[in-house]
Parts: sequence; structure tokens; C-alpha cells
Amino acid sequence: MNLSATEEKINQLAEKIHHYNTQYYQHSISEVSDFEFDKLLEELIKLEEEYPQFKRPDSPTLRVGGDISEGFETVTHRYPMLSLSNTYNEEELLEFDERIRKTVDNPVYVCELKFDGVAISLRYENGIFTQGITRGDGTQGDDVTANVRTIRDIPLKLKGKNIPNDFEMRGEVYLSKTQFEILNQEIVTKAKEKGVEEEKLPDLLLKNPRNAASGAIKMKDSAEMAKRKLSCFIYDAYGTPFDSHTSILENLEKWGFVVSDFYRKANGISEVLEFIKEWEQKRLELPYETDGVVIKINDLDKREELGFTSKSPRWAIAYKYKAEEAQSKLESVVYQVGRTGAVTPVANLSPVQLSGTTVRRATLHNEGEIKRLDLHEGDTVFVEKSGEIIPKVTRVVLELREENAKPIVFPSACPECQTELSREEGEAAYYCPNENGCPPQILAKIQHFIHRKAMDIDGIGGKTVELFLKENIIKDVTDLYNLDREKILNLEGFKEKSVDNIFKGVEKSKNQPFKSVLFALGIRHVGASIAEILAEEFYSIDNLMKAKEEDIANVFGIGQRIAESIKLYFSQEKNVEIIEKLKAAGLKFEQAEKKKVVVDGLFSGKSFVVSGTFQNFEREELKEKIKELGGKISSSVSKKLDYLLAGDKAGSSKLEKAEKAGVTVLSEEGFLKMLE
Ligand code: IVH
Repeated sequence: MNLSATEEKINQLAEKIHHYNTQYYQHSISEVSDFEFDKLLEELIKLEEEYPQFKRPDSPTLRVGGDISEGFETVTHRYPMLSLSNTYNEEELLEFDERIRKTVDNPVYVCELKFDGVAISLRYENGIFTQGITRGDGTQGDDVTANVRTIRDIPLKLKGKNIPNDFEMRGEVYLSKTQFEILNQEIVTKAKEKGVEEEKLPDLLLKNPRNAASGAIKMKDSAEMAKRKLSCFIYDAYGTPFDSHTSILENLEKWGFVVSDFYRKANGISEVLEFIKEWEQKRLELPYETDGVVIKINDLDKREELGFTSKSPRWAIAYKYKAEEAQSKLESVVYQVGRTGAVTPVANLSPVQLSGTTVRRATLHNEGEIKRLDLHEGDTVFVEKSGEIIPKVTRVVLELREENAKPIVFPSACPECQTELSREEGEAAYYCPNENGCPPQILAKIQHFIHRKAMDIDGIGGKTVELFLKENIIKDVTDLYNLDREKILNLEGFKEKSVDNIFKGVEKSKNQPFKSVLFALGIRHVGASIAEILAEEFYSIDNLMKAKEEDIANVFGIGQRIAESIKLYFSQEKNVEIIEKLKAAGLKFEQAEKKKVVVDGLFSGKSFVVSGTFQNFEREELKEKIKELGGKISSSVSKKLDYLLAGDKAGSSKLEKAEKAGVTVLSEEGFLKMLE
């Protein structure tokens, strides 16, 4: 083939594949078999590799991914990506309408569903997709073009008439409910193949479609991202020649974008309210998640008149649906004893359907919550579930309470070992102090010990621990390093291979660093990040055991409560015995002493608490970033703290404390500005 014939061939193949893609993804028609399609794609990939000069900027092979980015380039949005202000009830919506009517007579709105995913900005030049940017702080975002190209709903090349030379689209990238299930199923299958135990699976699963989508869009390997099979709805455009939102949506579809079918023009706020009511239940049946309705002024000139506040447009608002709630009956209250001895009341309920699942239990948190609800035996209660949160009892229907119903009284003794419960001053939870003798505490301590973030012992799961305890194969964590192979092989369901895995996992755990070992001990109030701070400060368990309470309390990010708990732990003979045995087994109880370098970074000398979830980062990622720049991470808010970096759902007590202590509360946007 001569060169021009090669170019021609590449063009033909690209056109053909584009056509099949459009038919399949936009019209659900398969004109060729998967096999034939893959053959065409492979042929094109091969030709493009050989003749990269002829690879088209809209080549369908870009969908397969393959580009690996080191990190994403930060780019400034040409049109800022604002967010919407939220309303939760009719009253607030009517107020919005009133504000609008001060500027616009007889406003015409467009109602759209609010898709629950991640916002994306897409640039098209001469009809070709050239850049995809995440929202970031609204002013600047990450260039994730290679990842966006793999999303089939996003056309690489536009078709139709009147396409502007250079314009931008806004939309929501999301993961469908089915695809979410499929991905989680794949995770389960792979984990099982590797011999991961059932109990460890929940830790590995994707939490919800939104998280999965936002994680995927930031993947460094676009081929990996392509496997997630994300989708995208377009809901806005900048730089197009249209004068209303509905005409934008209609034309976008003609150009090849995917627009949700369920938008509707509403003449006045009463029609908006109808739309909201209509979709409250219907939306739950859609194959993707939605969490509200977006209401926008249809006329673009009117939008201009209304303008923006610093954060959001005045011409649009989001109505968020309330978390679903259901009525049920309290059958009983049971008290669960956790790893650290904390006693949590749990309500057993008559089964009730809520957000597509059957709810039988709900948390009651602590004694205070039982009192707040004034909970009585047999009460009719409301339960609520939002997102991935465990269902909770929100209120009691007093009118339905039976006469002479007895109030629920929190027990004074441990329901498992009958030891008298105690409560620390200022704490909500009651504890069973019988740490080394209370069965559920023993079990949970060992389960915590083997956890991924602690000793990470593959091959043993929570159920195995339960069985080993029952069969007297282990009594505490030290026995894990002295297992009897024959005894295990005698148990039902244990074969050579699974026993090998247990021993391999145990052996490998000896490489876990000191911070993980310290966390694995399960000292009350010593979570993974506190363990890391302690390990960095004291280098060895011996130093930590020798340290005075005040020295521990004075370490940045630790404080009195944790220091007391650590001293209490070491004061118990049984705990010291455990440590000695684990040392003898070869676990790492020390780490190299790091030279304290004074980092001259942006955050040198500044301390941060990071709370909540963030749009652009995982929480751990943020902490690393702060440390890289010389800052310190603390887990509690005090007067000494410089910043509370608060994301969505940041702890309300942290926010309150910060306010009282005069600590600066930083939003994600504010933090990104500082980084600039
Ligand atoms: S319009 C100026 N329409 O909700 C902002 N947003 O806080 C215009 N979203 O970040 C946004 N569905 O990611 C719009 N139909 C829809 C939407 C939608 C979901 C997201 C979007 C934005 C957030 C608003």
C-alpha cells in the first residue's frame, strides 16, 4: 500500500468504526458482531501504530485508552464551573421564584434531573473533541482528556450543521447502577480467586456509583479507566448560537451528544413543583442515580440579566430530594460490644423497604440518642437512609405508642460478660472495661489485628478468627504466630492450599512497618493516623512505653485523652506480655529515626485537621500533600491548630470546636487557592 492509500484506509476504518459506535451507543443497534468490530479496531490500531502521522485526532481507537499520565495538568476554565445553590423544600423554591420574578416576568423554567456523578467540561474545536477538564475549584481543574476520550457517550467528532468553531460543553460523568454492580461483582470474583476471605470483601468494594465515577476520572491509566465504562449526560453549553436552554439541548443531541430524555419546560413555579413531585419516586427506577431536580431559566438573555453570585448562578437552583424514610416497629434493642469495649445500642425493626433494600436493623448510636428519642418498647419509629450511611432511627410516632409501654433503659453491665460498664467524662459511649476477658472484644481485637491497614494478614478473615477462637486454636493475637498446622487441617473446609495461604499471610505480616503494628495493637483512640504520628515521634515501642504521659500528650496532634489511653494500655500486664510475645515472633516494633528536617514549604509550621469528603482528592491524598509542603496533620481540633480543612459532610463537632477556638476553616476551594 502506498502512503496515500494507507491514509485512505485509516480514514475508512475510522469512519466505519465511528458509525458502528454511534449506532450502538446512541441508537442501540448492533450492525456487526463484537468479533467483527474488534477485528476492525485491531486493524486500525495496528495501522496507526505503523503510520502515526495518519492517526486522526478523533480516532475511535482513543476510546480504548492506553495513555498513562504522570499527573494531570492544571488548567484554567475559560468559563468558571460554578455550583448550584441547594434547596430542600417547597418554601425555599417559592422564595427562589419570587427573587426571579423581581427581574423576569412570567419566568419559563426548564426542569432537569440532577445526576449524581462528577461534573466535566468538554472543549470542541472544529467539531473535534480536544480537551476534558474536571471541575476542580471551579476556576481551575485537571486536564483529563485521555480519560474522557474513553467515555462512549462523549462524541470525539461532531456531526450535523452549525457547529461553532470553538465551544464548550458541560455535563455529568456517571456510572450506571448496572455497571456499578458489574464492577463490584468483578472485584468479588477476582478477590475470591486470590483467596481473599468473605469478610474482607466489603473493604474492597466500590462504595457507590458517584465515588466510583470520581475515582475513575482521575485514573492515571486511561485503559483502566475505559474498563469502568462511564457514561455522560450533557446539560449545558457555552459559546453556541442558541437563545434558549431547550434549543441547546435539542441541538446537542443532533450533534451527537447524549442528553437525558427527562427534561421539561415549566411555565411558572407550580409546574416545577409538579415535575418534582412526579419524579420523587420515578427517579428511583432509573438505571442511574439522581439526587434532585435542577431548575433553570430557559431564556439565555434572561439568564444574563439575572447574573451570578460569587458561587452560583442566580438563574438556576437545585432541589434536593429528602433522604427516603419509612415507618417501622421497634422489636427489640440489642447492645453490641465493639473492639474497644464501646457498647452500641442497635434497634431490631420489623422489616421495611427503604431505598430498594430491606432494613431490619438501625443504629441508635449511644445512650444519649435513646434518651433524645425517648424510645419505648414496641414504639413505631421512622428510619432514614441516605447514601451509603447505615439506617438510623430519626423519630418516634408518639400517637402510636402503646399505653404502659416501658422506656428503653441502657444497661449498667456488659451484656456479654456482665462486667460493670464505665463512661469517661465528656464521652457519649459506655465501655466494658474487661478488655482481655470479654468475648466480643477478644474477637474484634483479633479481627482488627489482621485488618488490611493493620497487619494485613491475607488468608485469614473474620469468620476464620471466630472459628479459631471457638476451636481453641488461638486465644489472642500472639497465637497467630504459633499456629498448629495439623489442628487447622482437621477443621472442616481447610485444605492444604488454604492453610498455606494462612501461613504465607502470617509470615508476610512480619514485614508490616512499626506504625501498622502499633495500630494493630488496638489501643483505644489510637487509629491509623495517630499510630503514624506516634511512630514518627517515638521510633520504637520501648520509647513510647517509657515516655511520660505529658510527653505523649504534647506531641502535636495527640492530646491528653489519647496519652491517658496509651498509658493505661501499657499499665496492664497482659498487654505488655502480648507485646513481648509479638516482638519474639519478629514483628517490627521500631523504625529508623528520621532526621527532623525543617521543610521550607508552603505550610511549614502550620497544622491541619482534614475532615469530610472532597471533590478532587481522597482525604489521604490531601494529608500527604500537606505533609509534602511541610505542614503537620492533627486528628483533633484545638486552639493550637491553624486550619480545619473541611470537605462535604465534615464532622459537625469539629466545625463547632474550630469556630469556638478561632481556628480558620478552609474549604476545598480555599485550600486549592492557597496551593496556587
Ligand atoms: S447545571 C452553574 N444540570 O450538580 C452550574 N448541574 O452544584 C450549572 N449536576 O456541579 C450546573 N445534574 O455537576 C446542572 N442537570 C444538571 C445537573 C447538574 C447534576 C451537578 C453538576 C454541578 C452540580 C451543581
